Amino acid sequence: MTGPNLHNMFGFLTVLLCLSFGYAMPSHSSSVGVKGAYWPSWAESDFPPSAIDTTLFTHIYYAFLVPNNATFQFDVDAATATQLLRFTSTLRSKNPPVKTLYSVGGGGVDGSLFTRMASSAATRKSFIDSSIQVARKYGFDGIDLDWEMPQNPTEMDYFGLLLGDWRAAVAKEARATRRPQLLLTAATYFSVDFFLAQVYRAYPVAAINKNLDWINLMCYDYHGSWDTSATGAQAALFDPKSNISTHYGLGRWIKAGLLRSKLIMGLPLYGRTWKLKDSRSYGIGAPAVDVGPGGGTLRFEEIEAFNEANNATVVYDASTVSVYSVAGTSWIGYDDPRSISVKVKYAQALKLRGYFFWSVNGDHQWKVSKQAKQSWVFP
Ligand SMILES: *[C@@H]1O[C@H](CO)[C@@H](O)[C@H](O)[C@H]1NC(C)=O
Ligand SMILES: *[C@@H]1O[C@H](CO)[C@@H](O)[C@H](O)[C@H]1NC(C)=O
Ligand SMILES: *[C@@H]1O[C@H](CO)[C@@H](O)[C@H](O)[C@H]1NC(C)=O
Repeated sequence: MTGPNLHNMFGFLTVLLCLSFGYAMPSHSSSVGVKGAYWPSWAESDFPPSAIDTTLFTHIYYAFLVPNNATFQFDVDAATATQLLRFTSTLRSKNPPVKTLYSVGGGGVDGSLFTRMASSAATRKSFIDSSIQVARKYGFDGIDLDWEMPQNPTEMDYFGLLLGDWRAAVAKEARATRRPQLLLTAATYFSVDFFLAQVYRAYPVAAINKNLDWINLMCYDYHGSWDTSATGAQAALFDPKSNISTHYGLGRWIKAGLLRSKLIMGLPLYGRTWKLKDSRSYGIGAPAVDVGPGGGTLRFEEIEAFNEANNATVVYDASTVSVYSVAGTSWIGYDDPRSISVKVKYAQALKLRGYFFWSVNGDHQWKVSKQAKQSWVFP
């Protein structure tokens, strides 16, 4: 047992030990680790919920449901209703069972929907009441907000107001029905603020601490098809040349006061691809001319197949904690069990609550997910 000061010191030592020896020490006892993963509903035919190895996860997210653009309520059609019920009942009856949440929104949804919904108490209530109804009707343990992204300080204020109303409604519903409160989480940018954007804005830290169980930091998509001039480590833990890194983003969340017990590190089960300008110049940041195989994105298992079929050279880059493979002018930046292991140990050394994957169907053979679980030493 240690007092607060010793605890801090151990935390500091842990970071050092982890970075030097890949070794992790206990995180604080109050944190029960979250090992999450999103399941894209459009992957059902290829990878149904029954295919998920639940020994490797604690929470699985159904992605996505989108509220009606005018009423902000969920209009669940018959096919979706069947799919939702199959998702929750399958995952609840697995051994071991996992908790289920459904995620609202996603990268493909115009954020203005959320802006309009969250801008008045009446529209927030309409959305919130419907969201709780859907969660209970289809057997979910919680709801996740994936608003990508609030565009300015006013929208960040709406985001905070929504969280306050949502938590109050969830608490009230739990009291009235004598059931456990629904979990409330959100997927966010990798940093607390959009420090590179033209319109500076920061997430409402106090509202998040008070009202959300945790947030899933999207610690990926740092580089991609929107810039084909050079290769990049899309989920770099460190970046010697810029602040676009998970290390930097986490630091900004923590410095802003977000509780570490509410921070979940995002890990990609996909990579991003480029076509090199010259096959002889192939490091991270090498000149490129276009996207590479898969139109710019490949799942982990597709990358492994590509590497094998093309006799690719695979390089682990310790300075960014990432991996890339090269075959001719094809270049793929991704994460493999090695880089994931370092990231998970780093997350634990920082006393974060856990990690999550986008998305679970990228790892059919569980190579990465198993390594992540093994690297998360304490529960
Ligand atoms: C949603 O509603 C807004 C305003 O009512 C409209 O401008 C927008 O086109 C709608 N979007 C979709 C996808 O229906
Ligand atoms: C990174 O951010 C720090 C402040 O947090 C700033 O001083 C530094 O110049 C930034 N580095 C780069 C490369 O932008
Ligand atoms: C695969 O690449 C290695 C070098 O990277 C080379 O030595 C080997 O001959 C190649 N094998 C095939 C089948 O092309």
